[in-house]
Amino acid sequence: MLIAPSILSADFSKLGQEIADITHAGADWIHLDVMDGRFVPNLTFGAPVIQAVRGHTKLPFDVHLMIEDPHRYIGDFCDAGADIISFHVEAERDIAGTIAAIKQRGVRAALAVKPGTAMESVFPYLDEISMVLVMTVEPGFGGQEYQPGMMQKVQAVKARAPRMQVQIDGGVNVETIRPSAAAGVDVCVAGTSVFGAQDRKARIAQLKQAACEAKQQQVGQTPLP
Ligand code: DX5
Ligand code: ZN
Repeated sequence: MLIAPSILSADFSKLGQEIADITHAGADWIHLDVMDGRFVPNLTFGAPVIQAVRGHTKLPFDVHLMIEDPHRYIGDFCDAGADIISFHVEAERDIAGTIAAIKQRGVRAALAVKPGTAMESVFPYLDEISMVLVMTVEPGFGGQEYQPGMMQKVQAVKARAPRMQVQIDGGVNVETIRPSAAAGVDVCVAGTSVFGAQDRKARIAQLKQAACEAKQQQVGQTPLP
């Protein structure tokens, strides 16, 4: 399981240091939540901030766009140093064109869905994207409760495209990562759980360990043919 701490829960007054800190704590990716106050009822930061902190780690920058009409800003986020860009199917009319614009710049493209959005909305694009982001909370704020029902959507993606990387975002902690791993999730975003921990290195290790145990138990439960 890859762990992508969300800097939404970091101390914004020292963002560069916070990113360096979770890098040393064993994070796999850095998750950056961009909100426009329209697609979600919250505002965060844009491409200039991402560019400013890009030099503080070599880890991949996983940029989660929660903005209307994301195609308008793809160039800016690619130039700022994004390695993966996720945008919401609910927020864009030209989904195929936006995916193409991201890939044209050598950046990985991913599609995100809110809890109420059917998984079928991403199916037409599975051949074009490299990751699906299943929201496990309503996008907009950190610290919300994980929605276990979303694991059906993870399983639906895996049934359709077994090799597709699936990420979840929202409410992931040492307990909720277990059913997530069992459902086949590959990447977990974790904000509060990692940044709120006294020992972030230990917390990331606990998350990975719990995911690993859940996977192993699942293998143990599978009846022999
Ligand atoms: C929510 C964001 C998440 C959020 C996760 O809209 O996309 O990345 O920060 O935070 P936690 O892990 O606290 O739910
Ligand atoms: Zn996010």
